[in-house]
Amino acid sequence: MPVELTALGHRFGTEPWLFRAMDFTFHEGTVYALIGPSGSGKSTLLGILAGWIAPAEGVIAIPHDRTATWVFQNPHGVPGRSAVDHVALPRLARGAAPDDADEEARHLLERFGLGHVAGREFRALSGGEAQRLMLARAIASEPAVLLIDEPTAQLDPTTGDTVNAVIGELARDDTVVVVATHDTRTRDACSAVLDLGRFARRAEG
Ligand SMILES: Nc1ncnc2c1ncn2[C@@H]1O[C@H](COP(=O)(O)OP(=O)(O)OP(=O)(O)O)[C@@H](O)[C@H]1O
Ligand SMILES: [Mg+2]
Repeated sequence: MPVELTALGHRFGTEPWLFRAMDFTFHEGTVYALIGPSGSGKSTLLGILAGWIAPAEGVIAIPHDRTATWVFQNPHGVPGRSAVDHVALPRLARGAAPDDADEEARHLLERFGLGHVAGREFRALSGGEAQRLMLARAIASEPAVLLIDEPTAQLDPTTGDTVNAVIGELARDDTVVVVATHDTRTRDACSAVLDLGRFARRAEG
């Protein structure tokens, strides 16, 4: 199910409008780069998409039968657990049998360039590996909406590029994926761009 924004606008209290008059449809299978200057409301819009923030005006139509999943800029996993366990767990939670969950998890790790670290503990992963693992884990949970805030912000450019290289793997037929980013290489790795700056100008008028 697509996510549809109609005349959406937000401001905090009586602060100036961040964005306004926003009509936009997020389609499944597309990975959207959400761009705009710092403070333009990217993380706020992710919060609205997650259902954590009620928009000040307008309507958001979002599937309620499945969840929204977040990936933050700081990878957080279970230090002593293996990489493959991190991805198998959401498969189990989705009802997969243990052997299937393990096999599906290993397949996902391959897709995210992590096949060689499947058995490694989370604490031993590099920053880029840990962030790619967070993306693989998020996809394993088959969310309706996948929200990713600045996935390369904590990484040096070379390490960040190992994350950008797998952004395309986030596309899923039944998932809306939105990646808030300042990183032009992350933006280029996405399949569509939503520039919040476009809607900030309307907010002024
Ligand atoms: N709960 C809140 N109450 C009041 N103001 C807030 C709240 N959350 C965010 N803001 C303000 O709203 C504006 C937009 O913040 P937001 O975090 O969405 O920007 P952003 O585009 O994600 O910026 P960055 O690129 O720096 O991450 C900022 O000026 C911020 O200080
Ligand atoms: Mg932000």
